[in-house]
Amino acid sequence: MSLTQPPASAHLSPPGVSIPKVTMPALSEMKRQAKPISALTAYDYSTARLADEAGIDLILVGDSLAMVVLGHENTLAVTVDEMLHHTRAVHRAVRRALVVADMPFGSYHGAIAEALTNAVRFVKEAGAEAVKIEGPRTELVRALVEAEIPIVGHLGLTPQSVHRMGGYRVQARTAEAARRLRADAFALAQAGAGAIVLEGVPREAAAEITAALPIPTIGIGAGPGCDGQILVFHDLVNLTFAPPAKFVRRYADAAALFRSAIERYREDVEHRAFPSDAESYHLPARQAMGAAAPGADFDSDNAVVNRDAFEDWAS
Ligand code: KIV
Repeated sequence: MSLTQPPASAHLSPPGVSIPKVTMPALSEMKRQAKPISALTAYDYSTARLADEAGIDLILVGDSLAMVVLGHENTLAVTVDEMLHHTRAVHRAVRRALVVADMPFGSYHGAIAEALTNAVRFVKEAGAEAVKIEGPRTELVRALVEAEIPIVGHLGLTPQSVHRMGGYRVQARTAEAARRLRADAFALAQAGAGAIVLEGVPREAAAEITAALPIPTIGIGAGPGCDGQILVFHDLVNLTFAPPAKFVRRYADAAALFRSAIERYREDVEHRAFPSDAESYHLPARQAMGAAAPGADFDSDNAVVNRDAFEDWAS
């Protein structure tokens, strides 16, 4: 634990200053006003807090965490409990953005009652303000909205369909497939979805659907014509250890930054250059410990560190 950690409330707005919360209706209003929606994934407290403080409108606890955080090959393995764990951390960090949680593979593919139970957990136990589900599942969307759970749909390249698609392939590449995509988007909107992620589809199709649809579209690999854009945080800052997809723009090289910091720390430890005297605690001036008989100060019955002795450790 860091000794320099500020109180948990330190990022609350000053008294009297209220930050308008982004809500699902606020996203629709942004579409109406042609105001682009910024969205980003986050999976933990620190990145969610940075994204929120940077003014990102929608923070998605994406099931991409299976790959970029947990090291799985695809998104299929992540569980409801793991998603809940990360959603809670993000919820603790966020003051302004809309927090959306991905329903993981298998958590909404069976009976509607079971999907409803799982979705309620994201809202009730983890603080999600909407859940995202992949595919044109209109009956399910209707049931969830009926249960007061705002829904973000996800169409086009839906990563949970990786085996059916035979890999991560751009979807809706023919006029016929693009028309089907448009029909699915309208059906989701009709069923009550509040927004739709369009992933990996031709920009022309995404732009046309966006212009016609009454609810916002948020694109990833879907061109500039969507109402908003979303990227995976680890793609944005180069923490993915793989060549980026065509649609990714890297805004920072965190891998290089972190690698260099870690290497410099290791070298300093190896050369006894860390910690310095200024980074060390001191006995009060002129108090020496004196020589001790070997082992005399070691109380083996009480060998656990006594925290009281360190109460001034942060000073
Ligand atoms: O899981 C995820 O990160 C996503 C985004 C790519 C939209 O679904």
